[in-house]
Amino acid sequence: QLKDNTIIIVLGASGDLAKKKTYPALFGLYKNGFLPRDVHIVGYARTKMDEAEYHKRTTGYIKVPEGDSETQAKVEEFKKLSSYVSGGYEDGPSFDNLNKYLESIESKYQSKERNRVFYLALPPSVFIPVAKNLKEHCYIAKGGINRIIVEKPFGKDTDSCRELLKALKEHWTEDETFRIDHYLGKEMVKNLLVLRFANIAFSSGWDKNSISNVQITFKEPFGTEGRGGYFDEFGIIRDILQNHLLQVLSILTMERPVSFAAEDIRDEKVKVLRAIPPVERSDTLLGQYVAANGKPGYLDDDTVPHNSVCPTYAATTLWIHNPRWEGVPFILKAGKALNEAKVEIRIQYKDVTQGIFKDISRNELVIRIQPSEAVYLKFNTKTPGLYTRALPAEMDLTYKRRFADIHIPEAYESLILDALKGDHSNFVRDDELDVAWKIFTPILHWIDGLSGPRPKPVPYPYGSRGPKELDPFIAKYGYKRSTEG
Ligand code: BG6
Repeated sequence: QLKDNTIIIVLGASGDLAKKKTYPALFGLYKNGFLPRDVHIVGYARTKMDEAEYHKRTTGYIKVPEGDSETQAKVEEFKKLSSYVSGGYEDGPSFDNLNKYLESIESKYQSKERNRVFYLALPPSVFIPVAKNLKEHCYIAKGGINRIIVEKPFGKDTDSCRELLKALKEHWTEDETFRIDHYLGKEMVKNLLVLRFANIAFSSGWDKNSISNVQITFKEPFGTEGRGGYFDEFGIIRDILQNHLLQVLSILTMERPVSFAAEDIRDEKVKVLRAIPPVERSDTLLGQYVAANGKPGYLDDDTVPHNSVCPTYAATTLWIHNPRWEGVPFILKAGKALNEAKVEIRIQYKDVTQGIFKDISRNELVIRIQPSEAVYLKFNTKTPGLYTRALPAEMDLTYKRRFADIHIPEAYESLILDALKGDHSNFVRDDELDVAWKIFTPILHWIDGLSGPRPKPVPYPYGSRGPKELDPFIAKYGYKRSTEG
């Protein structure tokens, strides 16, 4: 349920995340009538700027199609409900000042109810002081709700994550906290529940008896240009695998939740993650891109230490020790500076028992998360004509064709709306984070040099499919390329 009399406070309003994701998502919700009645948006950051500059920055990434005067008019309306306060992150008086400003807006409400949703689009170094200051200076003790939305990184390993969670919990309850993993807001990730549990055709073969191996792949065609400083401290495993891909894996493999309720779903996700032991070094392939195709290598980035061994590519195989999945390899792979942008799940079924057909392709169910959302099943069919031969073909649900007129919301739109409604289903619970870190902490400590010499990633050219070692790595886990297509 959306609450009237809500103020959304975006902390870090002048930063990249706010400009590129938060404000465009808030505008998308506003434009389509999904924000609460009489909503206000208040930006907060250290930068001193006037309202005009604030509006310029926060609407700069909103896409208005050429000549679309209706959307342009909405942008102008949107600006009117959004204003800015500047102040520090560490000092109480700045937050008293913010609180006074919020009260001045709230004093105009017809009813006594007032609600505040704080969105922290901030670097991790200020998470804790800001969470504390908000609680001490800007928290509504009576007559409304307070919520806090936070973004990764949630620590760097199990221990640092626990410390961060503990520090935040001193001020905010689990119920008030919404931890974003934006992959949970993506349309196709949200579709996994329906695909799995509303189709007996899929759910009946969803196990080790039918499935040979699963790949969850993230590919980006650009490097870390400009973000080298941040990236080098974290690496591709913390940036993508430990959060986004593991979230996808948990929904793909969990048992059916008792209901759609947030805690039922999250209970099942935690349960399946707990059945995954820490990733083994022997199940890991690490890569780093080098200059090629006129593009610079990772080490050519000025913001990266010249001898960095930080992986920009990783493939890791996870095993789930439960009756449904024992023995099925789940290969999570992600890389920067590759040949294309693509995120997909590829479920490869086992061979049909040998007999009447030889050398036929395996069935594959591919769920393409982006770009161009699609679900397609590779299956064998008879070549039309006077002889019988099995030919691989596809049953293809490509959203652009099937749902041409339907707007697919941005992940952030969907998640901000959920947070406004108080629905935790697509946010990461504390125990989920803990178990996710446990899976990756040993391998991360190895990469960080905390348990012996640091492994050296294998090189791969900018713009390639990834390290040449990738194909043998996947084949080791039983993946078979289809005979055609
Ligand atoms: C972020 C990572 O979490 O996800 C980035 O920090 C990455 O490195 C981004 O580019 C990818 O998100 P999307 O929605 O573009 O797939």
